[in-house]
Amino acid sequence: MSLDVVNDIIARKRDGGELDEARLRAFVIGVVDGSIPAYQASALLMAIVLRGFSPSETLGLARAMVDSGKTLDLSVLGRPVLDKHSSGGVGDKVTLVLAPLVASCGALFGKMSGRGLGHTGGTLDKLESIPGFRVRLSQGDFVRQLERIGVAVVSQSERLVPADRILYALRDVTATVDSEGLIAASIMAKKIASGTSAVVLDLTVGAGAFMQTVAQAASLGALCRLIGDSYARKVTCVYTSMAAPLGRSVGNRLEVEEAWEVLCGGGPADVREVVLALAAALLPLADLGLDGSEARARAERALDGGQAAEWFERWVAVQGGRFRPGEFHRLACDEITAGRDGWLSSVDARAVGHAAQVAGAGRRRVDDEVDPAAGVVVSRKPGEAVVAGETLARVHARSRDLRAAAALLLRDAFVIADEPPAVCPMVLGRD
Ligand code: URA
Repeated sequence: MSLDVVNDIIARKRDGGELDEARLRAFVIGVVDGSIPAYQASALLMAIVLRGFSPSETLGLARAMVDSGKTLDLSVLGRPVLDKHSSGGVGDKVTLVLAPLVASCGALFGKMSGRGLGHTGGTLDKLESIPGFRVRLSQGDFVRQLERIGVAVVSQSERLVPADRILYALRDVTATVDSEGLIAASIMAKKIASGTSAVVLDLTVGAGAFMQTVAQAASLGALCRLIGDSYARKVTCVYTSMAAPLGRSVGNRLEVEEAWEVLCGGGPADVREVVLALAAALLPLADLGLDGSEARARAERALDGGQAAEWFERWVAVQGGRFRPGEFHRLACDEITAGRDGWLSSVDARAVGHAAQVAGAGRRRVDDEVDPAAGVVVSRKPGEAVVAGETLARVHARSRDLRAAAALLLRDAFVIADEPPAVCPMVLGRD
């Protein structure tokens, strides 16, 4: 595409104008075929962040992104395929539990997932902390696995939505991630292209999340639903708190261990609560004839009766993983201790996420390696009583320097007060 035409598109948005679908399509095609250089693409992204992006622009961009690559047709399965997306969190191991849980309840759960970047971890990194687990499956194998055991979680195929890979990498380094419209188009284009019939969005709110209020999260949810509706895909939203890390463990293998506890009917109450809320929202969108309360009851029985754990073991084995609970190389740890007696009033999720990343559990750049065993285990959660000198968290890392650097980030992450804090619910709403 000629540089002048792109210049006109950028100028139009810079001046607060609306971009029609034809212009957005031309932009996406040019980004993918390389005729629009990164500096022009970045200029338009910045103009969008500063000037805003309307719902119809968001829909136009999502459609253009879907059409930028192949799409997967899952209708051969003859049944709805369910999926889940989280807007990001610290200690978020929900997919590891929800995927086999939903399959053990009789529905199909298929997900193409991404890797973690920054302070939030990625599901693929967590799964790959299980020795042998393969996340790269051909599209044929993805479909066959869904037919066979009803659950598959794999890496995003390179051929689906190539525009998102290019644009997301640019957004990541040009401070242009924070646009509701760009986020909704990016999330939903991938869901539509991967053939999902119905998706539950876990929209996280709080210190460890992108969004700080339920109103912001609801606005993102509405944009995602607009895109889903236009492709006849069902979208349901659950708003959850990410004020503190979810559960106690943050870090790839550490989170797999905690997910296993929840699958066996135990584990931290907040993880179980979020999983059950998502299952209750998602299972009614399958073909099982369940309403929300029946879905929740079935999911509770599957966790408490061992079926969900059994399904996890089958799923992991089919994708090549060798999972033995508790059997992994535990790294040495440094402890963070309480400076005084009192009540833990808050734990800064973002700080814990950064500490886990610095310990080796996360990456700063897309091509960084992650350490499967590194991370942070929080021993005390908000609302619990603490005494001076007791352990609040342990940082696991491969070297003393990494442990010290991570521990430094946790120095102010735990706030101790004289009174117990007000209890904040985990599930803040749904629609
Ligand atoms: N997750 C995505 O998939 N895309 C975004 O733009 C932000 C979060």
